[in-house]
Amino acid sequence: MEPTIKKQKIEEYIGSSTICESDAKTTTTTTTTTPPPHLNTNNKKKNFKILLTAEGNFSYTKSLLDRYSHLKGFGESITATEYTKQLDASIIPVTKQLEEKGVKIMLGVDGREIGQIFKGERFNIIQCNCPFGGSSERDRDEFKTFTLEFFQSASELQKPGDRIHFALDQSKGYWKERKTFIYIERQRENPIVKGSINANYKLIRKRRFGERYPKYRHKKTYSNESFLKDTSVIREFVFEKVDHLVLLTDYDDDVSGHQIKYKDKNNKDLDNAYFFCSTDDEDSDDD
Ligand SMILES: C[S@@+](CC[C@H](N)C(=O)[O-])C[C@H]1O[C@@H](n2cnc3c(N)ncnc32)[C@H](O)[C@@H]1O
Repeated sequence: MEPTIKKQKIEEYIGSSTICESDAKTTTTTTTTTPPPHLNTNNKKKNFKILLTAEGNFSYTKSLLDRYSHLKGFGESITATEYTKQLDASIIPVTKQLEEKGVKIMLGVDGREIGQIFKGERFNIIQCNCPFGGSSERDRDEFKTFTLEFFQSASELQKPGDRIHFALDQSKGYWKERKTFIYIERQRENPIVKGSINANYKLIRKRRFGERYPKYRHKKTYSNESFLKDTSVIREFVFEKVDHLVLLTDYDDDVSGHQIKYKDKNNKDLDNAYFFCSTDDEDSDDD
């Protein structure tokens, strides 16, 4: 039964480029590319749309387009946005190229306000990769509520079954100054457990990122440099919107191995929670 469910899910949205036929009850293992639903002439679902936020240098948008370059018109399903209102001159040729391929580029888009900015529209996938407000104390303070507000705002543009993809540095190294592991600290700065649960999203997948999008280059906020030169440390959390309240106990027997843990075992509140996934190091290329 499970393989059939998996295959149906894969066909519902993009980000799921490959179907392993062995998972789909056949004996041969072949890899085929699944077109996104709006481009699949057999699919009745129209207007499949993707919203990319906090794009920085737009190298993720470019890489996503490359990944599906064989799908005619794919660019038109994408709205790619960045928070800063002005782009560095070196990024402008990239955005021009993307626009030529049909991508809608928008600047000055605050991820906390997308519900208002795109009011009345629906996006099947909303993506946010490594958001960060800046290093000053003031910037960090202001950024504290970003993830919570982002999930709430995104949920205004989605229906059950739609997805939020959220990528974060999940390095396993120990951060001496902060006396914790980097992957936990990044989830503290971007509280995706609390954000997703409050907005009725359930974590359904956690996967590698850098290898999946080879042309993606991480960009620092307010600088053209990369903070993460080795993008293999990034993991993409895939959340699905559900039509009911998500409970912490929903993760207790999660078959995918997604668990909620607490930085302080004596303080089990959501501010203290992070995802730990047994699939962390799998190089899954499926949905
Ligand atoms: C570390 S950079 C990452 C950029 C790009 N996503 C990447 O992965 O290379 C953080 C990004 O978050 C953006 N950002 C900061 N505050 C934001 C906000 N309120 N809404 C949307 N994006 C924001 C910054 O402008 C910057 O592009």
